[in-house]
Amino acid sequence: MTELHIAEDSIPRLDGKVAIVTGGCAGIGLATTKILTSKGATVIMADLAPPAETVESATWVKTDVSSWDSLKATFKAAGRVDIIVANAGILGDPNWLDDRLDEIGELVKPSMSVIDVNIAGVAMCVKLAVSYMRKQGSGGSIVLVASGIVYEPGAKVPLYAASKFAVTGMLRGLRQSLINEDITINAVAPGVTSTQLVNSVKPAFAAKNEPMDTPHDVGLAIVYSAVAREQSRIPIPGTSPEDAVNKRSGRWNGRMIHTLKGMFTETEESFLALKDMWVGEKAFQEMKTQELIFHGPVTPARL
Ligand SMILES: NC(=O)c1ccc[n+]([C@@H]2O[C@H](COP(=O)([O-])OP(=O)(O)OC[C@H]3O[C@@H](n4cnc5c(N)ncnc54)[C@H](O)[C@@H]3O)[C@@H](O)[C@H]2O)c1
Repeated sequence: MTELHIAEDSIPRLDGKVAIVTGGCAGIGLATTKILTSKGATVIMADLAPPAETVESATWVKTDVSSWDSLKATFKAAGRVDIIVANAGILGDPNWLDDRLDEIGELVKPSMSVIDVNIAGVAMCVKLAVSYMRKQGSGGSIVLVASGIVYEPGAKVPLYAASKFAVTGMLRGLRQSLINEDITINAVAPGVTSTQLVNSVKPAFAAKNEPMDTPHDVGLAIVYSAVAREQSRIPIPGTSPEDAVNKRSGRWNGRMIHTLKGMFTETEESFLALKDMWVGEKAFQEMKTQELIFHGPVTPARL
């Protein structure tokens, strides 16, 4: 577990950079947009709804992230992309498991919009971003927005929890390959943050005098994730954190920052360091053998 100090001055100037922020017109996305533009970046706010306020150097392009055609048109309008923040997300119906019957008494298909927006939307963003970044040939940064729910999936929004585990899986599945093309992928897992998404729980938090994260704090963690550097890398599959091959500094990659009330904690490193505890030491050694077969030996091409 690594506690981080993240502030405005942790983020360098981003003049000339183009960022796309999905869901960039409200809440965490809007805060992220403002931080990016304050550092000199140009931002495309890819959102269904218009911006809550005007932000200089940021343009709203009406986008539905659950539609390939819509997202594709937004990337075309942006022209290039150096930083993509896949932030748009919805909570979905808290009563998803309640039965609804049609006129002949058959169970009605439940809404799957959480999957469409929070998983398919993020996956399509990643696909388009990588395609653009490869063509541009100058690397890039992908930041996914997961949720603190991946540390403790509450029962109230099961599809939402599942979707954020999928986002975490995308981070873990891509972090060892994209970096070879100088494309980083990271995630931020916000704690409960004061936005319209959590309007329903605001009175309960207020009654207990319990603060929520601010969208600005989460935005700082997001932009930091796109630009920071690290002293050692997330271990390559088939190796251990202490192996020399992992002690290489470079761009911040494959990491997740949990935000909570102004605290910022990187959680992937300690998660991986505990792998032998989840499965037991013997199985852990066997897993490393299989990982090396599955991924191939640790050659320069895999670094
Ligand atoms: N607020 C929290 O407590 C909290 C906690 C953990 C994670 N998150 C995550 O942070 C992200 C941002 O949430 P927020 O709290 O800022 O929410 P928000 O509701 O304030 O803002 C979300 C924005 O996304 C847009 N959007 C929704 N569906 C869209 C679609 N299909 N296409 C394009 N844009 C769409 C909305 O119009 C809105 O502007 C989400 O992924 C959410 O799951 C939020």
